[in-house]
Amino acid sequence: MGVGLERKAEILALLRERESYVSGQELCERFGVSRTAVWKAVNQLKKEGYCIEAVQNRGYLLTQEGEVYGQSELESRMDTRWAGHPVSFYDMLDSTNLRAKLDAENGASEGALVAADMQTAGRGRRGRAWSSPAGVNVYFTLILKPEFEPARASMVTLLMALAVAKGIRETCGAEALIKWPNDIVVNGKKVCGILTEMSVEREFIQYVVIGVGINVGMQEFVPEIAAAATCLQAECGGPVSKAGLIVNSMKAFEEYYDGFRCASDLGGVLEEYNALLVNRGREVRVLDPKGAFCGISRGINAGGELLVEREDGLLTCVYAGEVSVRGINGYT
Ligand code: BTN
Repeated sequence: MGVGLERKAEILALLRERESYVSGQELCERFGVSRTAVWKAVNQLKKEGYCIEAVQNRGYLLTQEGEVYGQSELESRMDTRWAGHPVSFYDMLDSTNLRAKLDAENGASEGALVAADMQTAGRGRRGRAWSSPAGVNVYFTLILKPEFEPARASMVTLLMALAVAKGIRETCGAEALIKWPNDIVVNGKKVCGILTEMSVEREFIQYVVIGVGINVGMQEFVPEIAAAATCLQAECGGPVSKAGLIVNSMKAFEEYYDGFRCASDLGGVLEEYNALLVNRGREVRVLDPKGAFCGISRGINAGGELLVEREDGLLTCVYAGEVSVRGINGYT
């Protein structure tokens, strides 16, 4: 980072908070930097696309209307203790999951977040591609270095789904629901997918990366998924803050994960999760490689398994690993 730019995100955060001019003097004192450093940081922010008025004897005023989605926006709005710190934003990556795995192998710590405006090799579940054009969507991956056994790792996907559903609701008001275990849906269509990957050595988790792709403005989908996919802007009828989606999701994830670490299961979020489960109480078809079956979805248990009540009244615990669950007449 260039000399004088260390406090850039904090300067931006303060300017965002204030409706009137903030004097250069106040910024210098608050952040313990020189006037030149403040001036350099403001100039850099302007180069990044922020509109900042600088008036002699009054100071600086942020007059931004739209969002400048990038490193400074994310850093200045990340309101968490550990989740999302540090954040690394790229204009283009092959895949945020691939980058996060490399970072994790090279010593990145728990909470580090990789985000990109575009992915050239976005990865979906079951070896599928995840369409990741520039300028329209959100792609990010969170690194965890958990101490629990590998069998518990799939539960963090459920925590992230819950966190992103909450993040979406807070950011744009859309009624986001969870399609167990990995998808978020709005009005019955998918707006978000989650891909969790981990590295295990001698029964110990080295790291887990949780990748999240949210369709924010993407309107065109490949024919295979077009009927079951949508984006937040189409559902909300207006612009949706990409940085808002990330920072709100991180805030929620931090809270859920801290609780999960203490309890070692999903007991603490069970009620909240099941209240957002899209097909709870409805008939679902479980596509199990050992044989598909139908039943009523009764919600998840503390281990993250989906409880499906079969015709004979018996409850089957469905483990996320090998199966997918569909609504009886389609995707949800
Ligand atoms: C799915 O198939 O539903 C999961 C899609 C996950 C996509 C996200 S986008 C950010 C992260 N990087 C990737 O390459 N994939 C995940």
